[in-house]
Parts: sequence; C-alpha cells; structure tokens
Amino acid sequence: MHVQPLVIANWKMNGSRELVNAMSSALGNQSALTEQVQVVICPPATLLPALAEQASTAGIACGAQTASAHAGGAHTGELSLSLLQEFGVSYVLVGHSERRQHYGETDADVAAKTKAIIAAGCTAVVCVGETAQQREQEQTKAVIGEQLAAALADLPDNAATKLVVAYEPVWAIGTGLTASPEQAQDVHAFIRENLKKLIKTDADLIPLLYGGSVKSDNAASLFAEQDIDGGLIGGASLVADDFIAICSAA
Ligand code: G3H
Repeated sequence: MHVQPLVIANWKMNGSRELVNAMSSALGNQSALTEQVQVVICPPATLLPALAEQASTAGIACGAQTASAHAGGAHTGELSLSLLQEFGVSYVLVGHSERRQHYGETDADVAAKTKAIIAAGCTAVVCVGETAQQREQEQTKAVIGEQLAAALADLPDNAATKLVVAYEPVWAIGTGLTASPEQAQDVHAFIRENLKKLIKTDADLIPLLYGGSVKSDNAASLFAEQDIDGGLIGGASLVADDFIAICSAA
C-alpha cells in the first residue's frame, strides 16, 4: 500500500434509512478501524441527509454516486456539487461502468465531471475497467489507458490530492467473478505508471482501488498486492458485518 487504506461502499440503488442507521452504528463501534482505514459510504442521494447526520460520529465520510458537471440551471433530475456538499459529500464516483453503459456517460462527460468535482474541493473517484470481450481480445490496457487519458486531461497540477482511481473490470461487477490478485495487480501497476505521466505532482499518492465482487473472503488477498490501496465495494457493502470484515482486511 502506498497511502492510507481507503474502502468505499457503493450502495447503488439500494439501502434504506434503517441501513444507514445500522451501518453508522456498526462502524461507530469500530473507531480503531476507522482511524486506520478511511471509510466512505455512497448511498442513494435521498439517504445522504440521514447519513450526514451520523457520519462524523461513525468516523466515516459521505460520498455521492454521481454529480452534474454543471453548477446549476435547467438540468432536471441532476444534482450539482454544491447541492451534494450541503449534505457533507466529500467523495464523488465518476465514470462507473453502470453510468457509462446504461446512462450514456462518455469519456468527455467523465472528464468534465472529474474537473468539476476537483474544482469544488471534493475527491473524484474515477472508475475505469474493461469488458469481458475487451479482456479476451487483449485490449485491457489499451482501454484503460484511453479511459484514464480522457478522464484526467487538463487537471490542475495539485489534482493528486483530490483523486482516486478505481479499477473495476466490468465482467467482475456483481457477477461473483473476481479478478485474481495477480490480474488486478498487473492492471493497477499499469494505472500507476500511467498516472505518473498524466499527473505532474505526487501521482504516487493517488489511492488505487479494486472493485468487482470483493467479498470478506477474497478482500485480504487483493488488498495484499502492492498497488491495491483498498476497494470499491457494491453488494457486500449492504451488510454491516461483511463490509466491516472487508474494511478490516484493508
Ligand atoms: O461500485 C462497486 C462495484 O460496481 C462493485 O460491485 O461489489 O457488487 O461487484 P460488486
């Protein structure tokens, strides 16, 4: 690990006030853990107010699953960074494969959002990853290189302090198929090298997360790899005991 371990829960379109309360209370009892590992929860936006009320007692940070690149105006259904920041959001996911695949988020959108997130003073969690077909055709690194170059173009020199990259192979998301630690490390090392070319200062300090069917029984072997600084967790972040076990492995 290069930096403080970081584990981010992405609840996607799941969760409830009850889960916010249960997770906050469970993590609140783990202060030794949350002092060592930065834990972030990205619930659906409607649960952010409830999470924000309990986040500091629970020792965690609030995250959003997406944000508009626009500051305001006629963008029905969208949420600006300032609206999200009113509810304590300090991390924002951008370019998640579900947003790219199902909601048409392009590399240009990802770049605009990443810039806006960093300009607002939040941390952008830029998600990249290849499909099964792209891996079979040995295009993994080409695809990820392109996604990174597009997302991180023209960022300010000090962007490293507000940037996280999450490698999520699309074929591993919600499928129960996980990249092996060696496969994940290979891509993470490639991302680390690319970041040095794209970000002028302190690229080594950018946390690199792995996501894709991380569970309590495979987290430790993934997080043991040199360039894996933590995880972006979907399904297993909806059960407090499982999520805490994953955080403990980081
Ligand atoms: O954002 C989280 C990822 O999409 C991983 O989801 O852990 O359910 O595979 P998963």
